[in-house]
Amino acid sequence: MRLGIDLGTTRTIVAACDRGNYPVVGFLSPDGDVLDHFPTITAEHDGQLVHGLEAEQAAREGAPFLRSWKRLMSSSGPNDPVRIGGIELSLLELTTDFLSALGQALLAGSNLPGPPKTLPETVISVPANAHSSQRFTTLEAFRRAGFDVRAMVNEPSAAGIEFAHRYRGRLNARRDHVVVYDLGGGTFDAALVLITGGQHDVIDTAGIQRLGGDDFDEVLFEMALAAASVEREAALPFHDELLLECRTAKEALNPNSRRIVLELAALGEAAPSEPVVLPVADYYDQVRWLVERTVESLREVTAPRGTDPEVDDIKAQAAQAGVAGVYVVGGGSGLPVVPRLLREHFGRRVHRSVYPAAATAIGLAIAAEDDQQLPLTERFTRHLGVFREKDSGQRIAFDTIFPQGTPMPKPGDPPLVATRTYQPVHDIGHFRFVECAALTEGYEPRGDISPHGVIYFPFAPQRRNEALDQATIERLTSGGPRIEERYEVDAAGVVAVTIVDLDDGYAQKYVL
Ligand SMILES: Nc1ncnc2c1ncn2[C@@H]1O[C@H](COP(=O)(O)OP(=O)(O)OP(=O)(O)O)[C@@H](O)[C@H]1O
Ligand SMILES: [Mg+2]
Repeated sequence: MRLGIDLGTTRTIVAACDRGNYPVVGFLSPDGDVLDHFPTITAEHDGQLVHGLEAEQAAREGAPFLRSWKRLMSSSGPNDPVRIGGIELSLLELTTDFLSALGQALLAGSNLPGPPKTLPETVISVPANAHSSQRFTTLEAFRRAGFDVRAMVNEPSAAGIEFAHRYRGRLNARRDHVVVYDLGGGTFDAALVLITGGQHDVIDTAGIQRLGGDDFDEVLFEMALAAASVEREAALPFHDELLLECRTAKEALNPNSRRIVLELAALGEAAPSEPVVLPVADYYDQVRWLVERTVESLREVTAPRGTDPEVDDIKAQAAQAGVAGVYVVGGGSGLPVVPRLLREHFGRRVHRSVYPAAATAIGLAIAAEDDQQLPLTERFTRHLGVFREKDSGQRIAFDTIFPQGTPMPKPGDPPLVATRTYQPVHDIGHFRFVECAALTEGYEPRGDISPHGVIYFPFAPQRRNEALDQATIERLTSGGPRIEERYEVDAAGVVAVTIVDLDDGYAQKYVL
């Protein structure tokens, strides 16, 4: 028995491998119901953290809680603090604690056949746009929680695997191109998948780190406040409860809905005497720009980027042959306006998955059962590089280390390595790593840029025992040591750098 686990922003979904079937694992709630997901929510209960179904219940009873904490991973590192009620812990510790609770629920509170005594081998996912530190936090937390992780796959690649599996009979036997559209709770992901005779290769991925169903809830929340003439400040203390009401109302919309009715009871005294009634058409007008942004991102994965001739060549072929379909997954695509707008752009090629929320987990389970189903290559979705001093410290220049499109090694393969060797002119090296979506003609980062950690390395041996982040950097008076920077990327996309003084062997390793 192996598993596929999709750690989602709002819902964590597990699918099992059962002799060619991939059932979604059900979790038993405290009141005996079976849920098809483990809610990604953490609460403080009696001075302890509780997760998932227990946390939902604690939150309903008024305990402090935190939802959608996966979103923090796009902007925070593993050691950054998170606070829930009176408990403060690091993002890595929170993720580990949550996954430990998930593991316990799988063994003792789920309908997993057996049930197994230990956690089975597992394939997990990350958003396609996740940077190295998010990949590291996710993988490390799964391992610390006791999961035996076989591979980590990009979320839209996993949905592509599920699509290829489901439609294998109907796809062109030779070559087919599919675009995956995954609108989740916190993120949007897109991928162009090339399917050739049962094998699939993810040609390109794109996405928006912070656009998902949560944003559609916020829009409804703002509209409701405006309609009820409630000041933002007055509503702020009840933000989470009101947002939940908006989310529930949003999820209840179907293609025939005309009105959205909101009580806003959480406001107490300040609640309107009559419920707020909003025309659905107005709501769809207000969220239209969110969907349009996802469409732009979707077009990015099919358009040539000019960075990799091989990839652009495949894209040109895809454009000529026409994509076999736009495969729509993710709970966020349940909002009727989403498939409707997609059809305006892509017509009848839009296919909504039968299991929109579970397609990713099912794809992971398929890959867990059969290594052959793992994507042939996953690629860097963004450029990774470093700002450093150039021309004897006269200017700061950006140096690309792994350009966008660089293939990551396959599971089990040795890491991909890049090295730089030089003689520094300063006594301390100050490295500012960033990832960016694009480069200018002068090779400067532009577009969606995310900082990726700052490292100080003592080039001068006498500075090795200092706290370097506060130190002043001096020019070296004589020739500096020979320095090597060695960058290694593993199959999970985690980047580590080792900086070595080649003269005496002093070395430091950092995970970016
Ligand atoms: N019927 C529905 N109509 C509209 N939205 C829905 C519906 N069902 C679920 N959603 C929304 O889908 C989102 C959750 O989707 P999903 O479970 O795919 O996300 P996730 O995997 O947890 O997040 P991510 O992939 O971003 O990490 C939530 O915003 C939820 O409100
Ligand atoms: Mg998801």
